[in-house]
Amino acid sequence: MTSTPVLRHHAENLFATELEELRKADSGRRPEGWHMTPQSVVTYLIGGALSNGFTITPKYIGNRRLMEIAVATLTTDRALLLYGLPGTAKSWVSEHLSAAISGDSTLLIQGTAGTSEEAIRYGWNYARLLAEGPSENALVASPMMRAMQTGKIARIEELTRMGADVQDTLITILSEKSLPIPELNTEVQAVRGFNLIATANNRDKGVNDLSAALKRRFNTVILPVPDTLEEEMDIVRQRVASYSKTMELPAEPPAAEEIRRVVTIFRELRSGATLDGKAKLKSPSGSLSTAEAISVMNNSLSMAAYFGDGQMKATDLASSILGAVVKDPVQDKIVWKEYLETVVKPRDEWKDIYRACKDLD
Ligand SMILES: Nc1ncnc2c1ncn2[C@@H]1O[C@H](COP(=O)(O)OP(=O)(O)OP(=O)(O)O)[C@@H](O)[C@H]1O
Ligand SMILES: [Mg+2]
Repeated sequence: MTSTPVLRHHAENLFATELEELRKADSGRRPEGWHMTPQSVVTYLIGGALSNGFTITPKYIGNRRLMEIAVATLTTDRALLLYGLPGTAKSWVSEHLSAAISGDSTLLIQGTAGTSEEAIRYGWNYARLLAEGPSENALVASPMMRAMQTGKIARIEELTRMGADVQDTLITILSEKSLPIPELNTEVQAVRGFNLIATANNRDKGVNDLSAALKRRFNTVILPVPDTLEEEMDIVRQRVASYSKTMELPAEPPAAEEIRRVVTIFRELRSGATLDGKAKLKSPSGSLSTAEAISVMNNSLSMAAYFGDGQMKATDLASSILGAVVKDPVQDKIVWKEYLETVVKPRDEWKDIYRACKDLD
């Protein structure tokens, strides 16, 4: 399944063996249209051992209960809204949920300021429309329509970036479970198994907030920033390991100590205080999510692999951290300098990072 050298495989291909084993071991009742039981979907997300000894790797690292609520929502007539700060694995969870439930994570609509109603409903093949007039052949189905026809999960990314009028197209779909096609005097009725997972970023809150009518049709699950340093380190370690494997990077996996330092820097700047709570700090303007910590490590690994000796050094880390933290050349630079002098410098075991960062100036 994973033999073609595409840059990124869909979850259902990448984890085909796991999904297959889960389906085989599955014994309970499946909701109609689902590829496995809700329990197995949660096991797929959280990881665990199957009765036959097969191990499922964790995809989401965090609270099991949240995943149970998300999966349970999808068995009801309500849609699921994954909400939270940037980089809290909303898209990641949405992809894995649809891969496990429908075996297909590709029925995806990206919400942007330019997303039109056609992107959610259907469009027309204009050559055919002109030649034949409105007909089923001239209709271009959206991913939403295909999900409804096949009883699969549809995904909408960044729901609140779409205009409010376009969002409201979803109301009929979610309450009537039907997509009217007035031009053909017909409709597409959703097959059992259909539901919708939307993600929204709370930094975009207020851009196009959901209407009350639409909100009522979603169950919201808020994905939090990892609670503890250890939990966040765990996420970074796993994601970096899988990245360097996919990219076949000729570099040593980063030592736990390096991951601890990067995650510490991110947690301190994000929360505006040192981990021991002794000093208050200013926070930079950009988002410093786990996802950014993962990119910093990946970046440093690439630097080490292609411009170093394959061992991650403080100099590799320094330039990547700077790129992640300083998004505004004036404000963030002041924040970073202050952090460097008051927090990094006094830490004895961080001398190499301090020096590497100073050298970059
Ligand atoms: N709790 C977590 N468990 C596993 N992976 C995580 C977790 N938090 C973050 N990640 C990783 O962070 C990366 C970014 O996540 P993702 O793109 O899903 O974020 P997002 O919430 O959709 O952000 P945005 O709002 O910017 O779209 C993913 O590679 C994911 O694996
Ligand atoms: Mg996302």
